[in-house]
Amino acid sequence: MVEKVQAPIEALLQEGRTFPPPDEFRQRANINDPGVYEEAERDPEGFWARWAEQLHWFRKWERVLEWNPPWAKWFVGGKTNLAYNCLDRHLTGARKNKAAILWEGEPGEVRILTYWELYRQVCKFANVLKSLGVKKGDRVTIYMPMVPELPIAMLACARIGAVHSVVFGGFSSDALRDRIQDAQAKVLVTAEGGWRRGNIVPLKRNADEALKECPSIEHVVVFHRGCYEQSQVPMTPGRDLWWHELMAQAPLECPAEEMDAEDMLYILYTSGTTGKPKGVVHTTGGYMVGVYATTKWVFDLKEEDTYWCTADIGWVTGHSYIVYGPLLCGTTTVMYEGSPDWPERDRWWALVERHGVNILYTAPTAIRTFMRWGEEWPARHDLSSLRLLGSVGEPINPEAWVWYWRNIGGGRCPVVDTWWQTETGMIMITPLPGITVCKPGSATRPFPGVAADVVDDAGNSVPAGAGGYLVLKRPWPAMMRTIYGDPDRYVQQYWSRYPGIYFTGDGAKRDEDGYFWIVGRIDDVVNVAGHRIGTMEVESALVDHPSVAEAAVIGRSDEVKGQALWAFVTIKEGVDRHQGLEQELREHVARKIGGIARPDRIIFAAELPKTRSGKIMRRLLRDIAEGRALGDTTTLQDPAVVQTLREQYEHLEG
Ligand code: PRX
Repeated sequence: MVEKVQAPIEALLQEGRTFPPPDEFRQRANINDPGVYEEAERDPEGFWARWAEQLHWFRKWERVLEWNPPWAKWFVGGKTNLAYNCLDRHLTGARKNKAAILWEGEPGEVRILTYWELYRQVCKFANVLKSLGVKKGDRVTIYMPMVPELPIAMLACARIGAVHSVVFGGFSSDALRDRIQDAQAKVLVTAEGGWRRGNIVPLKRNADEALKECPSIEHVVVFHRGCYEQSQVPMTPGRDLWWHELMAQAPLECPAEEMDAEDMLYILYTSGTTGKPKGVVHTTGGYMVGVYATTKWVFDLKEEDTYWCTADIGWVTGHSYIVYGPLLCGTTTVMYEGSPDWPERDRWWALVERHGVNILYTAPTAIRTFMRWGEEWPARHDLSSLRLLGSVGEPINPEAWVWYWRNIGGGRCPVVDTWWQTETGMIMITPLPGITVCKPGSATRPFPGVAADVVDDAGNSVPAGAGGYLVLKRPWPAMMRTIYGDPDRYVQQYWSRYPGIYFTGDGAKRDEDGYFWIVGRIDDVVNVAGHRIGTMEVESALVDHPSVAEAAVIGRSDEVKGQALWAFVTIKEGVDRHQGLEQELREHVARKIGGIARPDRIIFAAELPKTRSGKIMRRLLRDIAEGRALGDTTTLQDPAVVQTLREQYEHLEG
């Protein structure tokens, strides 16, 4: 058993307590020379070029960067292939027979794919896609559980130059439909189901529903996960095909397509401030280099490491740090299909012990859930294999940071709190574990070569300690290139507030040591349990219900989830506000978007507070929900509305 660090969390959090890298860690770290920051700063393009040189290119680039704000091209003229770099590059040495993917299903099966085996499967599936008419540039939507066939499908796309669009398996059929339509995908890859907390997620059923309105889809490839008998799965003749039947016939060899560095690699949809999700576009060369560099330095990967990122591949964290980053580094990457409390609340810790996991990358919401479940669950297992811990997705509160450091890391593992976004593609603000002295709650400093700042409305840097908007002042290789099919929105959303400067949508402050403290979103995006949800999307789902006249959705602070969704709803005149209506509305949202968007609370209001121009004042709703004094109310059309709401809310809470 691991020796426990006994000091109470409060004592560890005392003002000024910082966490330098342990000596042993620092000495062995991939990077422990603080000079890298200055070196990258002197010549950022040279810095990124040196990383690129470590990878395989069919043809070398002519220029590292072509920057016509806000349009960037990285490694201009270079030809490469991401799947080739993740697989073929490792096959000539000892990594050929090393575990690439170590997978555990929720029911308990374990599958290990070596680099060679993964290479074979990817080539075969690439041939399957080709046989279905998929060509370079075509879009393939992937809607799968966390099984190895998901990264196999992604890598197969990358191998032939098809663009993948992975849709998180927790999304509803409507959400899937919208994403397929936006991307005009030709093929859908799915499974009949997946396991989650002992239940079946009915992916194929959702897909069938979605496909009623997706004429672009020519074929559906269905992986048989084993949740249902094959004969129980309705297959549409001519359209639907079984994965295993296609694979049995597929040729073994498939050359990797020579891709231009700027050819599209994938689309990943994320929530913004409108009702319509944005298809964030990433391209090949720059994304590869940025993800490779950050994986190697932030996670300090060693040849013998077993690395586990607990995200779902349906989110960017999974794309960059379960699939592409670790495989570029030749690492063993762990995938787990199911829920952390199945069959018991120690499933993750059993998994760490069983597979000897060395590096664990997870989200604050998970850590806070474990805190609530109690330290006895991790204490049942030998976690001494762990040597580095990571956090991502939302601000980590210092209590959770210290709990993680102490109860999971046994007080010996550095904790890297990594700030980044779907749009940035790669980690942007983070400690380097062999260099950085950590302060719990701070993502610390920009990765070498990255230029971040905190600015005021006019775009001026704010002094130490003051709050402002987090911006990025220099292009970086893994940056998004555009929004699929909507370049205007790309310019408008990210680059118009301060010309030539990327606007993150996050609020932050920087302390006297230059450390960044991310406060959270300052736009109409809510971060629920590390999932990004646009309040407008939830509002649209609510007003889609026949009883609802108007809805305003806000994020309210929540002990475990970081933020929870609260909806203020007015119902149509003449509609009966029956007992079950609240539940009905919550389920309606889950059906329209997915369970992650189901509001925690619905508050029925006679009227919503509005400005004289008719804009809903969500700021005041947030004040009410948080139970704090109301901010400026002078622009309110009818001050009585908030008063009534507040009384009603207090009555409810009382
Ligand atoms: O608000 C920030 C928060 O998550 C947002 C990005 O969400 P998404 O694109 O879904 O990507 C999540 C995983 C990279 C950011 O705008 N966020 C992410 N990481 C952190 C964070 N907030 C504070 N600290 C972090 N480490």
